[in-house]
Amino acid sequence: MREFATINHMNKSFLLAPSILSADFSNLGVSIKFIEENEGDWIHIDVMDGHFVPNLTLGAPIIKALRPKSALPFDVHLMVTNPESYLKDFVDAGADSITFHIEACVHADRLIREIHRLGLKAGISMVPSTPVSLITELLPLVDIVLVMTVNPGFGGQELIPSCLEKVRELKKMKRNSNFSYIVSVDGGVNSRTLNTVLDAGTDVVVSGSAFFAGELFQ
Ligand code: DX5
Ligand code: ZN
Repeated sequence: MREFATINHMNKSFLLAPSILSADFSNLGVSIKFIEENEGDWIHIDVMDGHFVPNLTLGAPIIKALRPKSALPFDVHLMVTNPESYLKDFVDAGADSITFHIEACVHADRLIREIHRLGLKAGISMVPSTPVSLITELLPLVDIVLVMTVNPGFGGQELIPSCLEKVRELKKMKRNSNFSYIVSVDGGVNSRTLNTVLDAGTDVVVSGSAFFAGELFQ
């Protein structure tokens, strides 16, 4: 998985992870080509179960069908209850990293270790109302911390600026403790919010609606 930043925008380097939630679902292969041709580093795949979030999207069979279409890392964001039940399906489908929500899993330590045992990167995510303190014990273990800057479930929502405080906090904790995770921001990133998101220290920018509308860098 590419871990160094490739995009330089206003003198800030970061990885871009376009979310296919805003892609044309009737033509996902073409959308993946669009990501490759427009500086995407990872392909962010939002899996929703209609329980953890009030929406349904796609599952492992679609990820498996997309796998031969691109060599870019598949960054799978599980917005599902009991994420441990589906782990093997997503590994077999070709995910490179699996990020799950702390609010959806009691035995998060066990699940992170299991993701690593299967050879994947492990990410932990939190919704806007969850503080960083809830995941402190996991910080030495994880590869990615995904800070949700909208309430998960839908693309095209407004970024909640106070969530970026968590990015600053996580970057500070990383520096002070020599942790190795990278911080990803997901939700409401567009041309108006991108600079603030990067100023907070974000390493990975997830973008759905703005990216596919061609408006992220305007
Ligand atoms: C929201 C998803 C996001 C979503 C972001 O629950 O996790 O990845 O695709 O979409 P935008 O960039 O439109 O806010
Ligand atoms: Zn996401």
